[in-house]
Amino acid sequence: MKSLSLFLHLAPLALGSTRPSLNQRARNDSSTAFVSTVDLQTGAKCACGKLAASYSDSVFFPGSANYTAQATEYWDIRADLDPGCIFLPASADQVADAVSVFTTCQAQFAVRGGGHMNFPGSNNIDGGVLLAFSNMKDYKFHNDSIDVSPGMTWYDVYSALEPYGRAAIGGRLKTIGVPGLTLIGGVSYFINKYGFAMDNVLSYDVVLGNGTQVIANATSNPDLFWALKGGANNFGIVTKFTLKTYSMPHISTTIQQFNETAVYDFIKATCDWVVADSEPTIAAGSVLDISYNTTTGSVSPLLLGVQEGISNPPSMFANFTAIPGVSKTNNVTTSKQWASNLDSPKQMFRVMFGMHSMYPDPDVLYTMYQTWKSAIDQIADVAGLYPTFVLNISPASAARVAQTNGIGNVWGLDDEPTIWWQFSTGWDNAEDDLRVEACIRQLTEYLHGINKKNGLARDFIYMGDAGEWQDVFPVLPAENVQRMKEIRGKYDPLGTFSRLNWGGFKLGV
Ligand SMILES: Cc1cc2nc3c(=O)[nH]c(=O)nc-3n(C[C@H](O)[C@H](O)[C@H](O)COP(=O)(O)OP(=O)(O)OC[C@H]3O[C@@H](n4cnc5c(N)ncnc54)[C@H](O)[C@@H]3O)c2cc1C
Ligand SMILES: *[C@@H]1O[C@H](CO)[C@@H](O)[C@H](O)[C@H]1NC(C)=O
Ligand SMILES: *[C@@H]1O[C@H](CO)[C@@H](O)[C@H](O)[C@H]1NC(C)=O
Ligand SMILES: *[C@@H]1O[C@H](CO)[C@@H](O)[C@H](O)[C@H]1NC(C)=O
Ligand SMILES: *[C@@H]1O[C@H](CO)[C@@H](O)[C@H](O)[C@H]1NC(C)=O
Ligand SMILES: *[C@@H]1O[C@H](CO)[C@@H](O)[C@H](O)[C@H]1NC(C)=O
Ligand SMILES: *[C@@H]1O[C@H](CO)[C@@H](O)[C@H](O)[C@H]1NC(C)=O
Ligand SMILES: *[C@@H]1O[C@H](CO)[C@@H](O)[C@H](O)[C@H]1NC(C)=O
Ligand SMILES: *[C@@H]1O[C@H](CO)[C@@H](O)[C@H](O)[C@H]1NC(C)=O
Ligand SMILES: *[C@@H]1O[C@H](CO)[C@@H](O)[C@H](O)[C@H]1NC(C)=O
Repeated sequence: MKSLSLFLHLAPLALGSTRPSLNQRARNDSSTAFVSTVDLQTGAKCACGKLAASYSDSVFFPGSANYTAQATEYWDIRADLDPGCIFLPASADQVADAVSVFTTCQAQFAVRGGGHMNFPGSNNIDGGVLLAFSNMKDYKFHNDSIDVSPGMTWYDVYSALEPYGRAAIGGRLKTIGVPGLTLIGGVSYFINKYGFAMDNVLSYDVVLGNGTQVIANATSNPDLFWALKGGANNFGIVTKFTLKTYSMPHISTTIQQFNETAVYDFIKATCDWVVADSEPTIAAGSVLDISYNTTTGSVSPLLLGVQEGISNPPSMFANFTAIPGVSKTNNVTTSKQWASNLDSPKQMFRVMFGMHSMYPDPDVLYTMYQTWKSAIDQIADVAGLYPTFVLNISPASAARVAQTNGIGNVWGLDDEPTIWWQFSTGWDNAEDDLRVEACIRQLTEYLHGINKKNGLARDFIYMGDAGEWQDVFPVLPAENVQRMKEIRGKYDPLGTFSRLNWGGFKLGV
C-alpha cells in the first residue's frame, strides 16, 4: 500500500511568474487607513527584530537548522521560498501579538498551516515573515465537537477521535492541514451526507488584522462566521476551529485499480455515483483519478472508496466493483487507520493544478480524457512527468447541507450534481516549469471552453484543486462576493489581509 501514496496527488495548485507584488497592490483609498510606504526588507527587518526580542526561541533566521527544516515543510517544491525569518507561535495570544507587530511594522507576511497549497506565494514569502503553525497542535475533545489548533493535520484529528469512535469531516489524505482545507471548503469521504468541511465548523477563534481576538459563531460575529465558510484567508487568522464530530467507529473501504480497458466504465460509474446520490442515507465519498505513465504508456484508473459502517464491500461503490479490475482490496477499519496509509509526502515534486466544474456526462468526460492524454504526450520528455486526471464529485446533497442548515456558505452552490475535473501534474526540474504550466493552463481552459459551448460547464472553481492563474471569487454568486467585501471592510479596515498578507486566493478589489 505504500506505493499507493505515489498515485494520490489530487488537489493542490501552483503560482509562478504571475504572482502580483504586494507593493503594486498598495492602495490609497478611504477603505485603507494606512498607505504602505515601507518596503519588504524594511518591514521584515522591523518585524523579525521585534518578534525575536519577545520570542527568541521561536524565531528562526536563515542558516539555522530550525529555519532550514521549516523552510521545506511544503508539499510542492515550487512553494519553497526564502522568508526573512520564520516565527512559530505557541498560542493564539502570540499570533495576535505577531499580527500587531506586522501592522506596526507594515511587514509583509505569509501564513502556513499544513503547507499543502501548492503554489509559490500561497503560504510562503520571499524576504518577508513566515508565520507557521508547526508548534500549535493541541486539541480539546467535547464528544459532539472537538477544538482543533491550526498546526494539526487531519491524521492528528482522526487519531484524537478514534478512541471515542467518532470522526470529523475533513481531508482524505493523511498530512493535509486542518486550517487550509477547512477555510477553502473541504472535500471529505462523507461529502454526500455532511457536505463540506466548512459546513461542519461550529466556531472559529480569529485574530483580526489589528491584533484583536474574536469568536465567530452563529451568535457572535455571525457575518464573519459565514464569511469564513469558504472565504479563505481574507478576513483573519484562525487560531482554533471547533469541528462537529459524528459517531463513526468503523468505516468500510475499497481500493480498486484498473487498467486502460476500464477507463470509459470508470468514468461512467463516477457520473452515475454523483448523480444517483440524491438522498443519501449512507455517508460516503471517494478519491477518483486516472494516472498516465508516459514511459510505459500505461493508464491506471484508481478508486479509493469509503462509507460509514461495517457493510463490506461498501455498497455505494457496487458500480465500480462490477467493473473488471487489476486489483480490489476491501476492508473494515477506522478513519485513523485508513489515513495512516495515505501519506502525501512533502517535497516530492513540482506540481501544477488546474480545474473546472461541469454537469456529469460520461461521453464528454471520456473525450476530455483522450484530449488530456494527447496533450500530455506533447510534453512526454519532461523529466519526472507525473500526470493525473482527477474526478472529484460534488453531489446535489452536499450543496443542500448549506442550503438547509440556517448558515450557508460563501459558495451558494446550486442543488445539482457536478464533477470537478482536475489535472494534477508533477515534474522534476525548474527548467520545465514554463512548459508544463503553459500546457496545463491551455488545456484546462480549452476544455472548459468546449464545455461552455455544449452547456455542461459550470462556473464554480474549487480553491483546493485550482491552478494559480484561476480567479476563484468572481465566479461565485455576485451577492455573496459583495457581502464578503463588506465583511472584509468591517473586520479588516486596515487591509492587513489584502495588503500585507497577499498569499493564496484573495477576494480582490
Ligand atoms: C496531496 C493533497 C491532497 C489533498 N486532498 C484534499 C482533500 O481530500 N480534500 C480537499 O478539500 N482538499 C484537498 N487538498 C487541497 C487542500 O485542501 C489545500 O491545499 C489546503 O489549502 C491545504 O491546507 P493546508 O493547511 O495544508 O495548507 P496551507 O498551504 O498551509 O494553507 C493554505 C492557505 O490557507 C492559509 N492559512 C493556513 N492556515 C491559516 C489560518 N490558521 N488562518 C488563516 N489562513 C490560513 C495559508 O496562508 C494559505 O493561503 C489536497 C491537497 C494536496 C496537496
Ligand atoms: C493618498 O491620499 C492622500 C489623502 O487623500 C493624498 O494626499 C495623497 O496624495 C495620496 N497619495 C497617492 C500616492 O495617491
Ligand atoms: C528547533 O529544532 C530542534 C531540533 O530539531 C527542536 O528540538 C526544537 O523544538 C525546534 N524549536 C522549535 C521552536 O520548534
Ligand atoms: C456523546 O454523544 C453521543 C451522541 O450525541 C451520545 O449518544 C453519547 O452519550 C455522548 N457521550 C458522552 C460521554 O457524553
Ligand atoms: C458563540 O460564542 C460566544 C462567546 O464565546 C458564546 O457565548 C456563545 O454561546 C456561542 N454561541 C454558539 C451558538 O455557540
Ligand atoms: C449504479 O449505476 C446505475 C446505472 O447503471 C444507476 O442507476 C445507479 O444509481 C448507480 N448507483 C450508484 C450508487 O452509483
Ligand atoms: C486489463 O484488465 C482486464 C481485467 O483485469 C484484463 O482482462 C485485461 O487483460 C487487461 N488489459 C491489459 C492491457 O492489461
Ligand atoms: C484492515 O483494517 C484493519 C483494522 O483497522 C487493519 O489492522 C489492517 O491493516 C487493514 N488492512 C489493510 C490491508 O489495510
Ligand atoms: C512509470 O513507469 C516507470 C517504469 O515502471 C517507472 O520507473 C516510473 O516511476 C513510472 N512513472 C510514474 C510517474 O509513475
Ligand atoms: C480591531 O478591529 C475590529 C474590527 O474592525 C474593531 O471592532 C476593534 O475595535 C478594533 N480593535 C482595536 C483595539 O482597535
